[in-house]
Amino acid sequence: MLYLKKISLFQFKNYGSNSWEFTEAVTGICGPNGTGKTNLLDAIYYLCFTKSYFARQDTFSVQQGKKGMRLEGLFENNNQSFETVAILRENNKKEFLLDQETYKKFSEHIGRFPCVMIAPDDAAIVVGLSEERRRLIDTILSQYNATYLEALIQYNKLLQQRNSLLKQIAGTGQHDITLLEAIDTQFVYYGSIIYQHRKKFTIEFIPKILENYQLIAGSGDGISISYISQLNENSFKDLLKASLQKDMLLQRTNSGIHKDDLEITMQENSFKNRASQGQRKTLLLAIKLAEFSVLKEQKKVAPIMLLDDVFEKLDEQRMHQLFYIVCVQENCQVFITDTHAERLSNYLKKMQVNFSLITL
Ligand SMILES: Nc1ncnc2c1ncn2[C@@H]1O[C@H](COP(=O)(O)OP(=O)(O)OP(=O)(O)O)[C@@H](O)[C@H]1O
Ligand SMILES: [Mg+2]
Repeated sequence: MLYLKKISLFQFKNYGSNSWEFTEAVTGICGPNGTGKTNLLDAIYYLCFTKSYFARQDTFSVQQGKKGMRLEGLFENNNQSFETVAILRENNKKEFLLDQETYKKFSEHIGRFPCVMIAPDDAAIVVGLSEERRRLIDTILSQYNATYLEALIQYNKLLQQRNSLLKQIAGTGQHDITLLEAIDTQFVYYGSIIYQHRKKFTIEFIPKILENYQLIAGSGDGISISYISQLNENSFKDLLKASLQKDMLLQRTNSGIHKDDLEITMQENSFKNRASQGQRKTLLLAIKLAEFSVLKEQKKVAPIMLLDDVFEKLDEQRMHQLFYIVCVQENCQVFITDTHAERLSNYLKKMQVNFSLITL
């Protein structure tokens, strides 16, 4: 079992210096609004992903008025202990250590301690822009597929290069076709790798989502999901050739896997326009549970679950199902936040799981 035994936070967001030890599989984190519940989950996430789930810049995670921060976590996996340390130095330089050894590349750490976060703003995954759904797929695949992660990093670099070259061509009027061709060869290579992996992944992932939805809701609610990519019908090479004129005109790349999406419909209508708030939340949870089960299969260990404010908008039946799956059925470590300590402990007692409560 993968288990976070201990965590220490120094100058991380609202925390000056705090430590906790976790003794039970389930930990409830309670306290009024603004007391640091989400921040504590984010600290755990940080130790798994070498970055915050929420803050785009590391400096946002440093306690206001302070310089630098430090997080320490003691993980256990298959009875072996691992010490992780994240440091943001005063000059904002980041270091990440595993058992006192500094990582050269942070990407090497990602996936070592798989973890799934469910936060209120994640609703964007089901109703927001396609970017959110690509990020979801990337987050999952990156945790177990190093080829994918590497291809993604390269692809994004090439996309930037390609776009600046398109701007340069438009600016100077000079066609540097050889350079564009050189970029495109690589671009096609990495883009096709990403496409193949996404296609294979979604074939397994989508049915898992629908299955989980059915489990939580007791009905499928007529939801269907499909993987949309320009590469479904055409080769990436042909697509680039066909859109070259348009790319030149608009000075950006119009075809590629950076346009992929998961199309979600409900009774043949767009899910976003059709679904109720509870149904949105249910689909989000179904997606996250599918993420959990894919990671568990791939990593041969159950990921740590971080559940932030999952109580809102779910009816009793759905809540019960979620808790049953996460806290009883799965042998995993769970952290759950709630503003009502009583509501949370009542739920957990009803489930007959061993838990401890942190009150902030
Ligand atoms: N960099 C920072 N430095 C100092 N305080 C911060 C920083 N970033 C966030 N905070 C503060 O941390 C506090 C706790 O935030 P957090 O989101 O963890 O609360 P919460 O307990 O989850 O509340 P809610 O129940 O409303 O979700 C907020 O008051 C916020 O202003
Ligand atoms: Mg919160």
